[in-house]
Amino acid sequence: MRWLIVGGGAREHAIGVALARAGAELVVASPNANPGLDRLARATVRCDATDGAKIGEFARSSGAQAAAIGPEAPLAAGVADVLRGAELPTVGPGADGARIESSKLFCRELLARHGVPGQPRFAAPASVDDVDPQLAAFDRPLVVKPSGLTSGKGVWVEGSDFTDRKDAAIYAKSVLVQGGGVVFEEKLDGEEFSLMAFVTDSGVFPMPAVQDFKRALEGDQGGNTGGMGSYSQRDHLLPFLPAADRNRALEILTRSVAALRAEGIPYRGILYGGFMLTAEGPRLLEFNARFGDPEGINALTLYEPGDFSELLLGVATGRVDPNLLQFRLRSTVVKYVVPPGYGSRAQAGGLLTLDEAAIEDEGVHVLFGSVEAAGPATVRLGTSRGLALVGEASAIHEAGTRVEAALAHLHGAFYVRHDIGTKDDLAKRREHMRSLLAPGAKPSPLPLSVAPAGAPPSSAGPPEQLAH
Ligand code: AMP
Ligand code: GLY
Repeated sequence: MRWLIVGGGAREHAIGVALARAGAELVVASPNANPGLDRLARATVRCDATDGAKIGEFARSSGAQAAAIGPEAPLAAGVADVLRGAELPTVGPGADGARIESSKLFCRELLARHGVPGQPRFAAPASVDDVDPQLAAFDRPLVVKPSGLTSGKGVWVEGSDFTDRKDAAIYAKSVLVQGGGVVFEEKLDGEEFSLMAFVTDSGVFPMPAVQDFKRALEGDQGGNTGGMGSYSQRDHLLPFLPAADRNRALEILTRSVAALRAEGIPYRGILYGGFMLTAEGPRLLEFNARFGDPEGINALTLYEPGDFSELLLGVATGRVDPNLLQFRLRSTVVKYVVPPGYGSRAQAGGLLTLDEAAIEDEGVHVLFGSVEAAGPATVRLGTSRGLALVGEASAIHEAGTRVEAALAHLHGAFYVRHDIGTKDDLAKRREHMRSLLAPGAKPSPLPLSVAPAGAPPSSAGPPEQLAH
């Protein structure tokens, strides 16, 4: 089976590795030359990942038999529609389904219309004139979100990204003036987790839950990034996430897919729910229409012993054999190696030398992201996330220790979050959740899916509460 992979980051490298392990051949369309994918691919084309015409032509000329689209931009641009139009089975929703990620406003309003549980309160200013009244009416801490794609970096959280609502107003108005939408959302307290699923006509099939580390600096300081690293736990839950709450999150995914279908939008691809586990249960922060990066790397590392090519083909053609859904009962930790200054002012161009064999000897795999080959065992960092190191072990902290040991085989100027997957950090997260659930700590239950005064009527929906 010859697969076309669209995209050139570490997530796409991980997809490529999983397909190659199943004996698939690969061809790759991406704007950058990814050293890891280049090693695996029979043919590559350098192009903008949103250039449907060029990618369609490459699919034909390279003899691709199916396609998997990694990043959000080509999904939002309708590249999956182009490929399906050329009768290529494709993993990834069309532009209409991808709106669940590319328009936070569409997502919130869709879920409100269908009474999908687990939504925070929100309001959406239709114009700059709505901003001040809506902010004044929002009687609890909030977050400001541009509605469109921002690579995880556009969200402003009250108390960490701003303290004065006047700054929130300026930010919201600047996004509106530039033609984008804005959503104000109640600020939720809890622990974040990601639940991804394979979605096709025959069902919604979950992967192991993962926790991503979005903030640039240790101790969850600094700005939001695409994700500095992530971990998953042996039982596919998380230290603070019991099965009952994972199941509630899965119900939110399943009902959201049903909501899309009810509006005539089919979905064949990956659906990623970003959740906050609060004292009242899981609340949806966002959907992504693709594998998380880095979370997809955790899940794909564990995929075994099934045939990944057959699984993805099932997703693309509408019917998945549930026997193919097998993930090892092991823990994983991913850490991203990034250029110094990443998250504020990244310094591109630094050289890294790496001893891949020595890294593999530590039980750690390297996935290549935003780097270019610069000689034997040497890569040049760009401004984005460079290399993902993924370690696997029985316990999370052991997987983290493996990645730390592997870092000794990497030389050059780089930054990495050493706190991801440590015993201390895991204990802190467990304790955070325990403190929120402690008697007396529980805030009064909030009506969900109900917009504050001043919001347009379309954002109001029936109050609905998941049992906890
Ligand atoms: P998003 O792009 O919606 O996932 O937001 C990026 C990050 O902002 C999330 O991973 C959270 O850390 C934070 N965030 C988003 N929405 C909320 C919310 N309603 N309450 C608290 N933090 C949030
Ligand atoms: N790690 C978050 C994302 O993939 O959007």
